[in-house]
Amino acid sequence: MKLIQTLNYAELSQQAAAQVLSRLKGNPALNLGLATGSTPTGLYQELIKDHQLNRTSYQRVNTFNLDEYIGVPKKDHHSYHYFMCEKLFEHIDIPIEQTHIPDGTAKDFGKECTRYEQFIREYGGIDLQVLGIGQNGHIGFNEPGTSFDSRTHLIDLAESTRKANSRFFASLDDVPRQAITMGIATIMDSREIFLLVSGITKAEALARLMEGEVSEEFPASVLKKHPNVTIFADKEAAAML
Ligand code: F6R
Repeated sequence: MKLIQTLNYAELSQQAAAQVLSRLKGNPALNLGLATGSTPTGLYQELIKDHQLNRTSYQRVNTFNLDEYIGVPKKDHHSYHYFMCEKLFEHIDIPIEQTHIPDGTAKDFGKECTRYEQFIREYGGIDLQVLGIGQNGHIGFNEPGTSFDSRTHLIDLAESTRKANSRFFASLDDVPRQAITMGIATIMDSREIFLLVSGITKAEALARLMEGEVSEEFPASVLKKHPNVTIFADKEAAAML
């Protein structure tokens, strides 16, 4: 794993964006894996800025999001569909049908998980996956204890994850209890991975990732077994290294 330390969140976002743009330049039909949450929003703002300034095109790009809440309709402000449209898709020239996110309102979740997994495979797999990390080490919504062999699946969210994400909802009770997430093996199939880590609340998780053992109890530790991972961490996140 390659570690890039930055002074602050702004620089982290700029450096990650520069690297994403270089991959896009090399492959204008990039299959790009995306994450939601607070951490990648600065990266998305940088990509939007670049699109406006330099007209970088996303016409041939396909995106694949890591996860979606169960039971939240696409048009609901709390869905990750809505989040991605608002934070990125509607500000760049990507055809919306080339943006892919699991359907958290599917009738049959088992079928939806299989469909999403096969779909990624049919598209030739993910070239570059952007990840954040949970304080408990989750990647996507693969909570501690998830098998490293897991494929796209339904997951019960950890209480700590629901609490962390309650900042986006009116109350903790409103936070969904389940999600569909790419599995750990799905993420590991990506040809390249960028892990973005920002802020003091992630310092312990980053230290455990860098210095701890590889264990299903700390899902992000699997990244040590991937040949092409870059971690972008700001000063606060790197405070315990
Ligand atoms: C989001 C996702 C999660 C987040 C993680 C960190 O699609 O899969 O793993 O990346 O929970 O979230 P933030 O960035 O909000 O701290």
